[in-house]
Order: sequence, then C-alpha cells, then structure tokens
Amino acid sequence: MERIAIYPGSFDPVTNGHVDLAHRGLKLFDRIIVAILHNPKKKYLFTVEERLKMLEESMGTHGIEFDIFDGLLVDYVQKRGACAILRGMRALSDFEYEFQMALMNRKLNREIETVFLMTGMRWIFTSSSIIKEAAQFGGDISDMVPAVVYDRIRAKFGY
Ligand code: PNS
Repeated sequence: MERIAIYPGSFDPVTNGHVDLAHRGLKLFDRIIVAILHNPKKKYLFTVEERLKMLEESMGTHGIEFDIFDGLLVDYVQKRGACAILRGMRALSDFEYEFQMALMNRKLNREIETVFLMTGMRWIFTSSSIIKEAAQFGGDISDMVPAVVYDRIRAKFGY
C-alpha cells in the first residue's frame, strides 16, 4: 500500500527549509502532498494561487504533489488517503505550538500520526515571517528562499 503524508502549512512563501523538509520526507513516504491552508480570514503576503505556483516551481519533483485545503486538516488527510501529517521542528520555540496541534489532531482522529523531522541546521533560524520582515526593508534573504521566491518577494516589495 502506498504511504502518503500530508505536509500542511501556510507557505507564505515557501522557504529553503520547507523544500529540504519535503525532500527528506520522501525518504519515509512514497508520496508527499504539500497542502496549503486556504484561510480567507487570515492576511497573507501572497495569494493562495501565488503560493501554490511558487511551491510547484521550487519543489516540483517525482513524488511530491501540491494542493490547497480548507477546514480541518484531519478531514483533508483522510480524504486524500494519507496516513500521516509531516511537520518540521526548528528550535524549542516551535515545540509548544506543534505539540498542541499534534495533540488536537490526534484527538480529532487517532488513526492519523504526526511525524516531525528536525529542520536542517542550515535552516534552523529560517521562517517565512522573519524572511518577509527582513525582505520588506531590503534585507538580503537570497540564500534562504528558492530563486523564484526571491524574485517574487522583490517584485512584491518593489525592488
Ligand atoms: O505554516 P503554519 O501556518 O504553521 O501551518 C499551520 C497549519 C495550516 C498546519 C494549521 O493551521 C492547520 O492545520 N489548520 C487547519 C485547521 C485545523 O485542522 N485545525 C485543528 C488543528 S490545530
């Protein structure tokens, strides 16, 4: 049976840390579905279509698919026939939020496991929000995001 994991997130925008994690996830699962949460109530820098396009352009490889979901993550996981949720864990600061989410998801559906991979050392301080913050003021974030994302961020901030 094919083992599928859902790698959910906002991906606003996708970073090198995300790309690394999805590729490493492929060593554990036959297929990874990278799923962008569509939450119209939340404010994002990039539209869900832009985020999807950037993911496709920077992560596209055999075994990785992309999709958009809304509602409960566990319902989406079940709908796609996946057995696990894949998440990255950076520093200790991620732990509480991730722990809460994993426990809530487990309460909602005990059949679905959350699998954490430690973020690669190179990307331990990389996050979409910190990258956007630096980029907004012209900070050089070129080695933290895929080239296509770098171009889009610059265009967004007009430089
Ligand atoms: O990249 P992010 O913003 O940390 O990803 C968060 C995400 C999308 C994984 C999380 O918000 C989510 O799963 N939302 C869907 C709603 C849901 O199922 N909530 C219950 C579990 S906390």
